Amino acid sequence: MSASIRRIGVLTGGGDAPGLNAVIRAVVKAGANANCEVIGLEDSFDGLIEPDRWRRLEPKDVTGILRVGGTILGTTNRGNPFLYPVKTSAGAKDYSARCVETFHQLQLDALVVIGGDGTLAIAHRFAQMGLPLVGVPKTIDNDIVETTNTFGFDTAVSFATDAIDRLHVTAEAHHRVIVVEVMGRYAGWIALYSGVAGGADVILIPEIPYDLDLVARRIRERDAMGARFSIVVAAEGARPIGGKPVLLKAAQGEFVERLGGVAAVVEAQLETLTGKETRSVVLGHLQRGGTPTSFDRMLATRFGARAVELLLAGTYDHMVAFHPPDIVAVPLEKVVGRTRTVPPDFDVLRAARAMGISLGDT
Ligand code: F6P
Repeated sequence: MSASIRRIGVLTGGGDAPGLNAVIRAVVKAGANANCEVIGLEDSFDGLIEPDRWRRLEPKDVTGILRVGGTILGTTNRGNPFLYPVKTSAGAKDYSARCVETFHQLQLDALVVIGGDGTLAIAHRFAQMGLPLVGVPKTIDNDIVETTNTFGFDTAVSFATDAIDRLHVTAEAHHRVIVVEVMGRYAGWIALYSGVAGGADVILIPEIPYDLDLVARRIRERDAMGARFSIVVAAEGARPIGGKPVLLKAAQGEFVERLGGVAAVVEAQLETLTGKETRSVVLGHLQRGGTPTSFDRMLATRFGARAVELLLAGTYDHMVAFHPPDIVAVPLEKVVGRTRTVPPDFDVLRAARAMGISLGDT
């Protein structure tokens, strides 16, 4: 055990994902077994900005949370300490120095920062300012580079697959087209995996701009062969050739743009193009709830345990990552500012096409 690490802070940032609690539990248990105290910081970096937003976490405090979605520490995706939104005429404020001060006041020796690309980028900046920390990649979108999987993705895919199974039943009964919108931001991982696992007929992902004339043709072909219903899975970031993704809200201040609404657009256009009765469903935040799958619990537990191991070994400014079958450490500088999208030559795309699934371009 490293003599210098006695007190570890842990925080969760960005949108919640199933498995956050499993990581917190792993950090607390692995920390306790290495004679380290673990301090939970509330609502991401707010726990280092605002007073009394922390609490000691002992193994008894994390009993039973392995299977619980959400995060016992709370989270926010508006809490960038370097650009903190304050309601004054001066606008955003830089609270990073206060975070470093609180880190020392709390007598923390190291931090485990669990979050997506935004939170990990903040973590990297703090690491460069001298805070010993390790990042843990979280997101249902699976869009973080240098790791094959983020925890939360498998649970979101399982939920979306179950929804597609249910929609198959009603689409078939009514001979309808049903368009299902799933999350994923600018990456099509959730749409592709749930679409293939759920046996969708069409999958639209941001990486492959679509042509709805081709999609309508595929739906008509299905009708002609006697399958009088079709399931279309659309990633929220899907867009037509030459077009842009559909937004619920444009970016404003500290808020990033909110994607959403593509299913309704595709529904209306396909109804006109095919003459078939069409419906749409948005799975939305349901994909972030629920109990983590066993895969996500395993990944989260391995990530949390490895993060503590790295801190004790003095390896900072790194992110734990899944390079099957191993959990490895990747420098955070290789991760920030990049998005992992579905590669054009990915075998799952070829498998989808081989199953006769339209990806919107054929
Ligand atoms: O990054 C996770 C995610 O669920 C995306 O798939 C989605 O676009 C976004 O967060 C929604 O964010 P919010 O919770 O702010 O609506």
